Amino acid sequence: MAREPSRLFSVLMVLEFIPVLTLVATGEPQVPCYFLFGDSLVDSGNNNGLKTAAKANYTPYGIDFPQGVSGRFTNGRTYADIIGQFLGFPNFIPPYATITDKDISTGVNYGSASAGIRDESGSHMGDRFSFSRQLLNHEDITSRLSLVQRNKTFTNDYLKKCIYIVNIGTNDYINNYLMPNNYPTSQVYTIDQYAEVLIQQYSQQLMTLYGLGARKIAVFGLAQIGCTPTEIARFDTKGKPCVESINDAVKRFNDRLKPLIDGLNNDNSEARFTFINFTSIVPLQVTAILPIINVPCCQVREDGYCIPNSVPCLVRALSVFYDGLHPSDTANIAIATRSYKALSPMDASPYDISHLARL
Ligand SMILES: *[C@@H]1O[C@H](CO)[C@@H](O)[C@H](O)[C@H]1NC(C)=O
Ligand SMILES: *[C@@H]1O[C@H](CO)[C@@H](O)[C@H](O)[C@H]1NC(C)=O
Repeated sequence: MAREPSRLFSVLMVLEFIPVLTLVATGEPQVPCYFLFGDSLVDSGNNNGLKTAAKANYTPYGIDFPQGVSGRFTNGRTYADIIGQFLGFPNFIPPYATITDKDISTGVNYGSASAGIRDESGSHMGDRFSFSRQLLNHEDITSRLSLVQRNKTFTNDYLKKCIYIVNIGTNDYINNYLMPNNYPTSQVYTIDQYAEVLIQQYSQQLMTLYGLGARKIAVFGLAQIGCTPTEIARFDTKGKPCVESINDAVKRFNDRLKPLIDGLNNDNSEARFTFINFTSIVPLQVTAILPIINVPCCQVREDGYCIPNSVPCLVRALSVFYDGLHPSDTANIAIATRSYKALSPMDASPYDISHLARL
């Protein structure tokens, strides 16, 4: 028991040390456009109209978001929203599902909860835009943008200046490989083979994005999903703070992702891919060692999502997890801050996002 106060104290310290970057948009954004690909960490409403259990368009999601409930899987902003604010965008980038041609020139959010690198990942929950589907949606947007801008050369140059972020792969584990009753992958592949096939498919997908004119692309490694309250509840932690076998699987993927990014930069002279290291920017002491912080803020269903209309915790700024899987607005500030301006050379390589914007 005596340890509890010092643990709480250390999380307060961690939160306190988040450098304060200005969130006030002054003047023009640093880049003309910002495109977002990924899963529920990025989704801002694309799943609202889909037939799926992976939705967040109900309270208590959005309780601290200026526009209330939107489909974001957190109480406030996603880290991708906050990076957009650091880049100087005065408004949040709209979701693909509802965007009109009038708004596409500043970027589009394609993120879809439960989506993965593999098309089948997340399918037991219902419909979703897999990463391959998100790339098709982006192809649609780039042709609509050429029509709006009426000059193909101009549009091609324009797309090269944008920032692209990609955060995908978590669901290929939690909503695929780690569910042997729903998906055969764990019978077909060893954990190393699986990381390898994911990386091969991811490599092709990232080249598709490059082929659609993207140059400045920040690719997020996977977070330590073995430390999420939902996975801790599902699997035996064997006395450790996190499910180490899951973090080990994630590490095998991340250890291949960084060389993939370096290889893509070497092979394509115009490419400016960068690897953002989630393990480094969300240190274990924030996600796991602190029991108070390791409980979801809202009351959760078995799948880790908030129970609709339930009453969340009061001091949301002190929770790392809003539900059983997704970070709170406070944690998202920490993630966005360190990926935008790296604190350690491990955080981002070769560039952090503020550097990527200036290239
Ligand atoms: C199309 O855009 C390019 C690049 O911005 C520019 O040099 C060219 O003059 C434009 N062409 C027309 C017909 O406006
Ligand atoms: C990410 O950061 C962690 C912690 O600093 C480090 O141990 C790990 O090697 C890094 N991962 C990669 C792929 O660079």
